[in-house]
Amino acid sequence: MRIYLVGYMGCGKTTLGRELAEVLGLNFIDLDKFIEAKHFKTIPQIFEEFGEDNFRQKEHNCLKEVSEYEDVVVATGGGVPCFFDNIDIMNHTGACIFLDISPEVLVERLLKAGNERPLVKGKTRAELTDLVHEMLVNRRPFYLKSRYIVTSDNITTSDLLAQFMEAGHGQT
Ligand code: S3P
Repeated sequence: MRIYLVGYMGCGKTTLGRELAEVLGLNFIDLDKFIEAKHFKTIPQIFEEFGEDNFRQKEHNCLKEVSEYEDVVVATGGGVPCFFDNIDIMNHTGACIFLDISPEVLVERLLKAGNERPLVKGKTRAELTDLVHEMLVNRRPFYLKSRYIVTSDNITTSDLLAQFMEAGHGQT
C-alpha cells in the first residue's frame, strides 16, 4: 500500500499525511525531509547552492526511490507533480490524492508559517497572493491529474480515509 499526498505549499500534506499514516498503521515519509537527509542539506541550501533545476532532479530521484517502498504515506513537495513524469509515477505506483485548497486559505497559511520556503520567502501578502494565483494557473492542471481529489478548505483525516477506501479497490 502506497499513498501520495500532493498539492500546493501549505495545503496540509505533511500534517494530514502523518495522521493518515498513523490511523492506517503505515510509515510516513515527508519527501522534502527525505531529500534533505539524503543530501545533508536543507531545501533552502539546495536551492541556494545548486539552483532549482538541480533540486528538481534530486526530488525526482528521491520520488523514484520512495515509489518502491511498501506501506507508506508520502507527503510530496508542492512542485513534485509538475516536473518530469512524476505525476505518472505516483498514479502508477499508488493512490495519488490531491488536497485541493482555495488560494485564499493557502495564502493565509503561508503567511502564518512565516516560512523559509525558497519560492515564497520574504513576500508581502499582496506579492504572495499574486504568486499563489499565478503558480496555481500552471500547477493545477498537473495536480488535477491525481487519481483522487479532495476539495475542501478543511480537509480532515476522515476525508482522506474515504479516499483511501476508494483507493483500496485495486489502485494501490
Ligand atoms: C516547493 C514546495 C516545498 C519544497 C520546495 C519547493 C514547491 O514543499 O519542496 O520548497 O515548488 O512548491 P512543501 O509543499 O511541502 O512546502
